Amino acid sequence: MTTSAKGRDIKPAEGKLGILLPGMGAVATTFVAGVHAIRTGLSKPIGSLTQMGTVRLGKRTDNRAPLIKDFVPLAALDDVVFGGWDVYPDSAYEAAKKAGVLEEKDLAPLKTFLETVKPWPAVFDPQYVKKLSGPNVKKGKSKRDLADQVTADIDKFKKDNGLARLVMVWCGSTEVYREAGDVHSSLAKFEKGLDESHPDILPSMIYAYCAIKAGIPYANGAPNLSGDFPAMLELAKKTGAPIAGKDFKTGQTFMKTLLAPGFKARLLGMNGWYSTNILGNRDGEVLDDPESFKTKEVSKLGVLEHILQPALYPDLYGKIHHVVRINYYPPRGDNKEGWDNIDIFGWMGYPMQIKVDFLCRDSILAAPIVLDLALFLDLASRAGMSGIQEWLSFYLKSPQTAPGLYPEHDIFIQLMKLKNTLRHLRGEELITHLGLEYYD
Ligand SMILES: NC(=O)c1ccc[n+]([C@@H]2O[C@H](COP(=O)([O-])OP(=O)(O)OC[C@H]3O[C@@H](n4cnc5c(N)ncnc54)[C@H](O)[C@@H]3O)[C@@H](O)[C@H]2O)c1
Repeated sequence: MTTSAKGRDIKPAEGKLGILLPGMGAVATTFVAGVHAIRTGLSKPIGSLTQMGTVRLGKRTDNRAPLIKDFVPLAALDDVVFGGWDVYPDSAYEAAKKAGVLEEKDLAPLKTFLETVKPWPAVFDPQYVKKLSGPNVKKGKSKRDLADQVTADIDKFKKDNGLARLVMVWCGSTEVYREAGDVHSSLAKFEKGLDESHPDILPSMIYAYCAIKAGIPYANGAPNLSGDFPAMLELAKKTGAPIAGKDFKTGQTFMKTLLAPGFKARLLGMNGWYSTNILGNRDGEVLDDPESFKTKEVSKLGVLEHILQPALYPDLYGKIHHVVRINYYPPRGDNKEGWDNIDIFGWMGYPMQIKVDFLCRDSILAAPIVLDLALFLDLASRAGMSGIQEWLSFYLKSPQTAPGLYPEHDIFIQLMKLKNTLRHLRGEELITHLGLEYYD
């Protein structure tokens, strides 16, 4: 793909875009319902940068700030078609009702449509998500066989709906903790592992493999190892598939990435950050299992370390006690409550405390992220941007970066990077905020 003063050549967003969702629980059904509510005029795309965000172009005095969706060619919501897999056979309507995020008054007008979105049988094994079991599961002779079945689902979906392009966003449960091992170290070893049903190949990796192998962009909404190891990078390089990192940045970590850059900007020190959550949805139940929680914990803990850079600021951040807890508490449903106690210190070492109590709605925060990731990944694909899309870090707790490069977690730097990437794609001047020209 070429880049010129006019930007990159980007193929137009013609035809239908299929959004593949492995895991059709609370987040996925809230996303699907919301998109349909928006396209039928029942709702506004609140929280979505692709739909409501603007991008400033040129000087502040130029007054050019188009909507992002008018500035870069994104798929139209009317062109989006949904497909997915789940362990439970419920349609998106039944699953949304069970998830309890959206109220009946909002679901009722969408019922006919949501009933048409039915999950295909899943690649699933309870040893990787301990607290789940359901009947809508594929049987296969090997993990390779299961991968072939997923590929057949994707091909059929594409054909039946006359789709021009596809993207995949994992919205399934958080799987048990795995570090990348030998089987993940190269494509050849991973493919051999599929043939031999290697125990360290998790279901989410099978979906990711099928997508990336077909050149379909892939993002992972959960923190488990899935598309972020050398074999997948090798595959993405080969097929040109764009991939983004993992774990939607919502709720408590969103708050952390808002507050921590502020403390650091003012060189306020920190002794500790204690975070606890109560959560009563199925995700909370899955995370009640220590092995799934471990996956989440690693993703959540990484954020502060990278923002505060204790190696550069040992006097301020050299000794932080960072604790994260999630407690499954059914009465709260999807309406999570996240408490944070932050112990900071200022001039002459005097201590101060900040308490945050965020009564949030997890899936309401996550749904626009699914939409933006899907549309931006599709844009990246049409712009010939393959492999890791670091500019999408803005949406993720564990951004993916080039091997050896530390991730940028500060949400405002992430947003600047995202918007500058869009300017770059369109051949517009990047904005540095230097602004000396206003004073010449
Ligand atoms: N909501 C948020 O704010 C947020 C933020 C970050 C990450 N996440 C992650 O997003 C994911 C989805 O969250 P949720 O609240 O929708 O959870 P959920 O439990 O409501 O939905 C997950 C769905 O995935 C299905 N599933 C599990 N394994 C599967 C497999 N192998 N194949 C197909 N389906 C499978 C489950 O049956 C379930 O229906 C979770 O991993 C969660 O940790 C959510």
